[in-house]
Amino acid sequence: MFPKNTWYVACTPDEIDEKPLGRKICGESIVFYRGEEGRVAALEDFCPHRGAPLSLGYVSEGKLVCGYHGLEMGCEGKTIAMPGQRVRGFPPIRSYPVAERYGFIWVWPGEAAQADANLIPHLDWYDNPEWAYGGGLFHIACDYRLMIDNLMDLTHETYVHATSIGQKEIDETPCKTTVEGDTVITSRFMNNIMPPPFWKLALRGNNLADDVPVDRWQICRFTPPSQVMIEVGVAHAGKGGYDAPPEHKAYAVVVDFITPETDTSIHYFWGMARKFNPRDKALTATIREGQGKIFSEDLEMLERQQKNLLAWPDRDLLKLNIDTGGVQSRKILDRLMAAEQAAGAVPGGSSALEDRP
Ligand code: FES
Ligand SMILES: [Fe+2]
Repeated sequence: MFPKNTWYVACTPDEIDEKPLGRKICGESIVFYRGEEGRVAALEDFCPHRGAPLSLGYVSEGKLVCGYHGLEMGCEGKTIAMPGQRVRGFPPIRSYPVAERYGFIWVWPGEAAQADANLIPHLDWYDNPEWAYGGGLFHIACDYRLMIDNLMDLTHETYVHATSIGQKEIDETPCKTTVEGDTVITSRFMNNIMPPPFWKLALRGNNLADDVPVDRWQICRFTPPSQVMIEVGVAHAGKGGYDAPPEHKAYAVVVDFITPETDTSIHYFWGMARKFNPRDKALTATIREGQGKIFSEDLEMLERQQKNLLAWPDRDLLKLNIDTGGVQSRKILDRLMAAEQAAGAVPGGSSALEDRP
């Protein structure tokens, strides 16, 4: 289950540069493309003629042309023309609210009337010369909430990411979780420790010594429906840690937009926005490569965990103190989903995999 009356990241602009993109989001098969004047459009991926996926077609002069028999579809879901046919009586297909902002294309899979572009979260680093951003996309066969759990409990870094960002001090340092409205914050501060390999690289990237003790922080922020932003970084020990002046630290935000595809699969948009040495493109590429490797390590764990949960649907799971961030995030999601249900019909609402842990 997932909230549907909300914005999700659907794709990045480059994915619709050349041709239409078919992507399932919250159980809805949607085609994304650039219509008239390059404006992004999102429609049901279903041709009203014989049901072919429109995403197999192409865009001509802002119209989406079905690749099967040439039906021409308009951005609002009304057939405009078809060779040799009168199309006036053709049934319309559904169109979805969609917006292009901050380097992403966002879609609202629920009630169109409730969609408000002002609810799209503002991303500080977009188009801001003080920041650099690099990211990517993974498809992962797991419930989106397993990824939220993963990101709200970074103790797994010690084990899953032992050679890059993991270190025993993460395990040894308790984290603190607070809830502020619909935001859950889990933070951990580790002082006077040696930086692990990924953070050594980041220190060098900011022209700082990498062989001295540092203060390290992780501040994970969940906001619904499935966004987790993690302030991360290291500062040379004793310079103020998180609050150290920029010349003594490497500060970044791990960006995670988790878009449900089905109840048991996600499109995972990951990235890192860094606020040091932003003009160094080679550094952006190196960090992106490192982060991609790190996140690919979570992939197998999450997919196998999902398989286990499906194979043993009745098994109880533990809720330990380290799980508090994920548990609180799920509570907020449960509340939002209950409110949606109570408000009535959510188009194409989904069921199944339930509330574990
Ligand atoms: S199925 Fe699309 S035009 Fe025939
Ligand atoms: Fe991880």
